[in-house]
Amino acid sequence: MAVHISLEDRIAAVTGAGGGMGRAVALALAEAGARVAALDLDGESAAQITEEIRATGRPALAVPVDVTRRASVHLAFERIETSWGIPQILVTCAGIIGTARLLALTEEEWDRVLAVNLKGTFLCVQRAVEGMSRLGEGRIVTIASDTGKRGGGRIATSHYAASKGGVIAFTRSVARELAGGRIRINCVCPGPTDTPMHAALPPDLREQVARNIPLGRFARPEEIAAAVVFLVSDMASFIYGETLSVDGGVLMD
Ligand SMILES: NC(=O)c1ccc[n+]([C@@H]2O[C@H](COP(=O)([O-])OP(=O)(O)OC[C@H]3O[C@@H](n4cnc5c(N)ncnc54)[C@H](O)[C@@H]3O)[C@@H](O)[C@H]2O)c1
Repeated sequence: MAVHISLEDRIAAVTGAGGGMGRAVALALAEAGARVAALDLDGESAAQITEEIRATGRPALAVPVDVTRRASVHLAFERIETSWGIPQILVTCAGIIGTARLLALTEEEWDRVLAVNLKGTFLCVQRAVEGMSRLGEGRIVTIASDTGKRGGGRIATSHYAASKGGVIAFTRSVARELAGGRIRINCVCPGPTDTPMHAALPPDLREQVARNIPLGRFARPEEIAAAVVFLVSDMASFIYGETLSVDGGVLMD
């Protein structure tokens, strides 16, 4: 078995590619040889990461998408298929966080977070699997969170934690459904990671969070991307329906 990772000529769709983690995932997949379609609600940041990838001599495609809307997701995949073909790889990084204690949590805020994190994951995975089934192969990594396993904890984010717990259960359920086929699906649960998502964290809270991570610091987005690239590669050919923590030891107990 080859011990290097090559995704040469693979077509990869990365949602949330304009964000901190999605950008690192897109760059790492491109470095491994994949053609990367960068999907994001923020068309400008998707275009920016696309330019960064092209500057390395690799092809890239910026595709605006709202993962909460089925029609938008379908249009985005059609654009990739028209330009390059059916994506064999999907990584769902699009996500949002919200903070509210239970009694202050509104129905609108609950729906907003669940729509992007959980429904968005469902719509993208469903559309990707449709294409991968026609192709006869595929590799999918969903992005949940350590909060989806442990149930929040650091800040009041019950809706966010519920959405991520949903992503874990959804991924495992889809893995059971797809068993016996040639589409592999796994989930990554990052711990606190240095991305724009945490830009608003007050320094004292940030320090407190870092202190509670056994490795003593936030992850770099590239460290999450490395796990994703491994999971979509042939190196992980027998890893299936797994929920992999990449959290500096937060959940080791
Ligand atoms: N940063 C962390 O500490 C951390 C920890 C665990 C899990 N995560 C998860 O990792 C994923 C990536 O987070 P990040 O830290 O890179 O955040 P980020 O805010 O940097 O990036 C998220 C991206 O998703 C995009 N997005 C938001 N709504 C969208 C929609 N409706 N359609 C398409 N794109 C949309 C945003 O435009 C943004 O580019 C998220 O699912 C997040 O919940 C992050």
